[in-house]
Amino acid sequence: MKGDTGSAESRESPFAPPKVAKTQNPKHNFHGVKGDTGSAASRELPFAPPKVAQTQKPKHNFHGVKGDTGSADFPFLLAYLPFLPKDAFRMSRSNPFRPALAKMQPYVPGEQPQGGKFIKLNTNENPYPAPPAVTEAIKSAATAGLQRYPDPVASAFRRRAAEVLDLPGPEWILAGNGSDEILTILVRAMVGEGQRLRLPYPSYILYRTLADIQGAQWEQTAFSPDWQLPAAFGHSDDRLRLAFLPNPNSPSGTVIPPDQVLQFAQTLPCPLVVDEAYADFADTHCLDLVRQSDQVFVTRTLSKSYALAGLRFGFVVAQPHRIAELQKIKDSYNCDTLSIAAATAAIGSTEWLADNVAKIRATRGRMEQRLAELGFHVTPSQANFVWCQHPDKSHKLIYEHLKQSQILVRYMDFPDWGDGLRISVGTDDQADACLLMLSQVL
Ligand SMILES: Cc1ncc(COP(=O)(O)O)c(C=O)c1O
Repeated sequence: MKGDTGSAESRESPFAPPKVAKTQNPKHNFHGVKGDTGSAASRELPFAPPKVAQTQKPKHNFHGVKGDTGSADFPFLLAYLPFLPKDAFRMSRSNPFRPALAKMQPYVPGEQPQGGKFIKLNTNENPYPAPPAVTEAIKSAATAGLQRYPDPVASAFRRRAAEVLDLPGPEWILAGNGSDEILTILVRAMVGEGQRLRLPYPSYILYRTLADIQGAQWEQTAFSPDWQLPAAFGHSDDRLRLAFLPNPNSPSGTVIPPDQVLQFAQTLPCPLVVDEAYADFADTHCLDLVRQSDQVFVTRTLSKSYALAGLRFGFVVAQPHRIAELQKIKDSYNCDTLSIAAATAAIGSTEWLADNVAKIRATRGRMEQRLAELGFHVTPSQANFVWCQHPDKSHKLIYEHLKQSQILVRYMDFPDWGDGLRISVGTDDQADACLLMLSQVL
């Protein structure tokens, strides 16, 4: 009911705390609920570690809740309080930043060498140029002039995307400056200080950084060695506010099927963000789930399948009442005139997309086969990259040898899990150069 902000509505809205929902200018409210340290009981892990540990080797058991010192540590810390400087927990002129910032590690993106002649297979960019319609659209938007502010809600893009993706209407979409901005908006909207965010492990590390920025906690559910996600991912927890599922996952390139994703969405006590940055390269996607449940948010990017990583454009699909709430958080003009024009042209380039995806998938298949012949354990990929591990060679050394030869791949080391190489699918020539160099290095 309109205007009724009573209990029924607040039970259904994930955009807690209510203080944020009611502020006039929510985009400046970074702070969420303050001082919620929770009761001892609610500090318990949502699922017992020993039980989950059974699903994988002990070294893969990674269920710590970061930032949670647990009830046992608390009296111990209290004992130190009299010895701390008076302003230890206060902002000061020399350190005006929130304490959460001092504690957190920054997110480190993949290497982006400027200059040089690298074959760049480290950050899952598309090796081909963007659809030709994009260049035309940018030219004509620039020629029309940039003296006016852009459309705050990227209407042209939303209309075209709704048609192409067969959504009921543009009000199901919010556009952003890359899907990373969309993920930021989602976390700012739903996860306050002291609250929790859940993600699978190993997966996209940025989710943790976004929780850290909020002064929130994150907890990880480990994938099994064959990249299945245990039921624990869907378990309930009082302080859980948001769960992220990259699907296809990075670094594995594996997919959780939509019916299983829906099950997670149904058992989780909070919204589930299905991060579909790589879905165009996969056999399945979860857009249909958004119609079935207002707890599902699907994010997409134009950086990968549309070859527009340099443009910065992404979007989220959710039910209109959810999109309306998210709109309060975003910057007024988060997408500029050129990127809106370019993204609108790109999303309409459906034949180009089909052709590009077919090429990437064909090269991906060849890479998987050749890597296996070279002795790697290769995880079958549904994305535009391949995750591979060699049983007895050092991944770090392989990465370094390739780099010396101007071939950049991503070396990834996941504590308590293991390391490996994530190699983006390039053109056939780039893939061949990389595979040849690998055969010489091994
Ligand atoms: C799983 C996942 N989500 C989101 C992104 C961010 O994409 P964008 O370029 O749209 O910010 C990436 C980028 O590599 C990614 O791997």
